[in-house]
Amino acid sequence: MSEIETIISGVGSYLPERILTNAELAKTVDTSDEWIRSRSGIAQRHLAADGQATSDLAREAAWAALGQAGLKPKDIGLIIVATVTPDKTFPSTAVYVQEKLGTPPCIAFDVSAACAGFIYALNIAHGFIASGQVKHALVIGAEKLSCFLDWNDRGTCVLFGDGAGAVVLSAETPSVAGPKRGMLATYLSADGRLAPHLYADGGPSTTGTVGLVKMNGKEVFRNAVEEISGAVFEVTERAEVSRHEIDWFVPHQANIRIIQSCAKKLELCESKIIVTIDKHANTSSASIPLALDAGIRDGRIKRGELLVFAALGGGLAWGSALIRY
Ligand code: UT7
Repeated sequence: MSEIETIISGVGSYLPERILTNAELAKTVDTSDEWIRSRSGIAQRHLAADGQATSDLAREAAWAALGQAGLKPKDIGLIIVATVTPDKTFPSTAVYVQEKLGTPPCIAFDVSAACAGFIYALNIAHGFIASGQVKHALVIGAEKLSCFLDWNDRGTCVLFGDGAGAVVLSAETPSVAGPKRGMLATYLSADGRLAPHLYADGGPSTTGTVGLVKMNGKEVFRNAVEEISGAVFEVTERAEVSRHEIDWFVPHQANIRIIQSCAKKLELCESKIIVTIDKHANTSSASIPLALDAGIRDGRIKRGELLVFAALGGGLAWGSALIRY
């Protein structure tokens, strides 16, 4: 890899208008606001409209990220969409986003790594930039999970929501003074033996259907605490940074109790964690860029600060990224 730095030059997100509160959900599902809040930290979720596809959510987030970066669609050389709810089995959702943004021909593809998808996509885009293949990349996490939830399964349907988040990664020449900026270290892993704990029970080459989300919550919870905190240890070691130097932990938003357990293991104070699960619920690959954008927009996350992202989800697949923003 070259000396080029891969920096986050823009961040954007999009949440569909429709909000479904726990109380509203409890009218049709055998659950309660108290159960959902106390077990997961979720108070509400956003739901995409019938005619809104994942690429529509992704397009809005990408457009906002481009605006923040001060770039135009024609400046983008690579679009990666991390999603498990693509518009179509093929082609990729990324090409629909490309078309909707009006981006001229460029590299465009999807990444399927469920809730860890955004971190996988970030790592891949970093490789394209560091190797000099592209100057600006759009990395998007976008999900319309409401379309493949089993609304009769209270163990899963209360936990998820729809939304999209995006970052623009750009190549920068390192400045002579100051610490290295942008992507400092990444870590990815997966263990297919754990796939039965979280999956969709359909697919083009098996059932010919999309399927519905199935989850063994307890097992996923246990693995999430172990692997998310392990992944943070891994990137800090790789970058030779002390965990105490981390300014902001921006974790995947699946359960407030998972986030708190990881923070305890990592000895990170809760005031350094960006939490959006209460408002967004679990939006899979979109949750980290959505949380990042929320933290930037409300003024907590500032340029030059040290951020760590970490996620685990279906696969099971997990990963982390350490970034100087
Ligand atoms: O992003 C992908 C990664 N996903 C995750 O990280 C999710 C990880 N897992 C979790 O977040 C938690 O395991 C859950 C929130 C899914 C469940 O919390 P839990 O503390 O593990 O609860 P549980 O599954 O042990 O269920 C406890 C009780 C059960 O009743 P009994 O058997 O004790 O009588 C469930 O039937 O709660 C019941 N229950 C519910 N009650 C009301 C399960 N879902 C609901 C519900 N409303 N929605």
